[in-house]
Amino acid sequence: MKTKFQISPVPTLLLIAAFGFFSCNKSDFGHVPPGPGDLSTLPGKTSLNLPKLDPALVEQGKQIFRYETFGDETFWTDQLQMNQVIQTAVSPNTALAVGLKVDAAALPAAVVDAIKRGAVDLNDPQTTLVLLQNNAVVGVKGQVRKNADGSLKLERVGITCALCHSTVDNSFAKGIGNRLDAWPNRDLNPGLIISLSPALDAATKATYASWGPGFYDPRFNHDGLSDPTVIPPAYGLYGLPKSTFTGDGDIQHEPVGPVAYWNRYVAVTQMHGHGYFADPRLNNWVVDYRQGDDLVSDKLPALQAYEYSISAPTPPANSFDFASAARGKILFIGKGHCATCHSGPLFTDVIDGGKLHPQSASVALDKEYVNRTATKLWRVSPLRGIWQHPPYFHDGSAKTLDEVVSRYNQVNKLKLSASEMADLTEYLKSL
Ligand code: HEC
Ligand code: HEC
Repeated sequence: MKTKFQISPVPTLLLIAAFGFFSCNKSDFGHVPPGPGDLSTLPGKTSLNLPKLDPALVEQGKQIFRYETFGDETFWTDQLQMNQVIQTAVSPNTALAVGLKVDAAALPAAVVDAIKRGAVDLNDPQTTLVLLQNNAVVGVKGQVRKNADGSLKLERVGITCALCHSTVDNSFAKGIGNRLDAWPNRDLNPGLIISLSPALDAATKATYASWGPGFYDPRFNHDGLSDPTVIPPAYGLYGLPKSTFTGDGDIQHEPVGPVAYWNRYVAVTQMHGHGYFADPRLNNWVVDYRQGDDLVSDKLPALQAYEYSISAPTPPANSFDFASAARGKILFIGKGHCATCHSGPLFTDVIDGGKLHPQSASVALDKEYVNRTATKLWRVSPLRGIWQHPPYFHDGSAKTLDEVVSRYNQVNKLKLSASEMADLTEYLKSL
């Protein structure tokens, strides 16, 4: 496939050979110090020349990302009865304990004051209903009504994209703060939450409950296997011609675009929004939850634009050692051979004509996941903002960036010394 994002590949050998003679400027290459010269295909070089996004479309997408359920109450309320579960058993403290986040900006000043004064019972599910009434539980949309006795009732509940792909900055308290859209919620335990549904049998509950915080298996309800992946970020994706760990999403399979492919997949097959999804590559899977309507398709362009508008976050000040990272940059391209795959502006060679890699290219502990997907191949993961979302690899099998580097050192027999590994780790923290 030819894409407008394409840049020409440069063989690693050339990069290595050229290394003594060039460097590139700071903004072009991670956040690491400049040097003389330039080479346009260096990893981190920001020169994709992507078309400007329409601000109105982006704003529309933001509302969809945060608040749109696509009608999935049909599933979360009518089938799973999660409204009953929340109303009877989920206090704010329980909600925070399973990783749900509270949008402090959505709370009326009176509620904020009352929380500060300790005048709100955070162990009472009724308080959760107050939060839902104010649209303050990130990724959960509730319709709340007053009973005759003045107590609140959760009539219907559904979920939005923000459930898994947003967190908060904890500015008010742990789990309560300003929204950070597209940051993966690695505290969230979606499997445990689903397992609370009274509509599931014991075996299914046990499977869901086994996944743990930050993990979700978006293929379990298709192939019956349980092999969850970490919830990835939804930022830093503009310019990638393929989405997901395995590059399932592309424009050939969803005319709106690569990210929209996966957004349709999740909105329909996982969230159970009213829409349609079909892919012959997945054993001809067809999922149709339309009820004389389609609440998904016309939202995809705006949703994708919003995701594309969010860049990967830059590393916090003083979060890495500059000199060490500069040495690590050299190892990334040279001795570590990282830039053979993590090349180009977004640190992935997928922009090189949609290139994917065979099963053996991943150094994750679990390599079976790939066989459950449409492509059965890996997309090289983009690395910008990598400091933000441990654990690493699709299976979360490296807890830290140190572990990532020592895994590569071992599997690829790189023979890096301890100080070289430390330098390479510092460089990764700088991206
Ligand atoms: C229950 C948790 C959950 C919800 C809800 C969810 N996702 Fe995801 N999302 C995941 C997981 C897990 C993956 C990784 C799947 C893979 O790559 O195989 C993923 C992958 C993605 C990716 C691919 C990122 C990349 O690197 O290419 C994007 C984009 C994304 N989701 C956006 C969305 C949007 C938009 C919605 C709402 C329509 C949504 N997600 C709803 C869990 C979720
Ligand atoms: C043969 C191609 C290839 C090479 C060489 C390579 N990588 Fe990767 N890298 C990948 C693929 C594919 C993934 C995704 C694997 C997975 O999630 O299972 C990945 C994932 C990663 C991740 C985790 C990303 C995330 O979002 O969790 C990091 C960090 C990383 N690589 C760093 C490096 C470093 C450092 C080197 C050099 C020592 C390197 N890679 C060399 C292909 C490669």
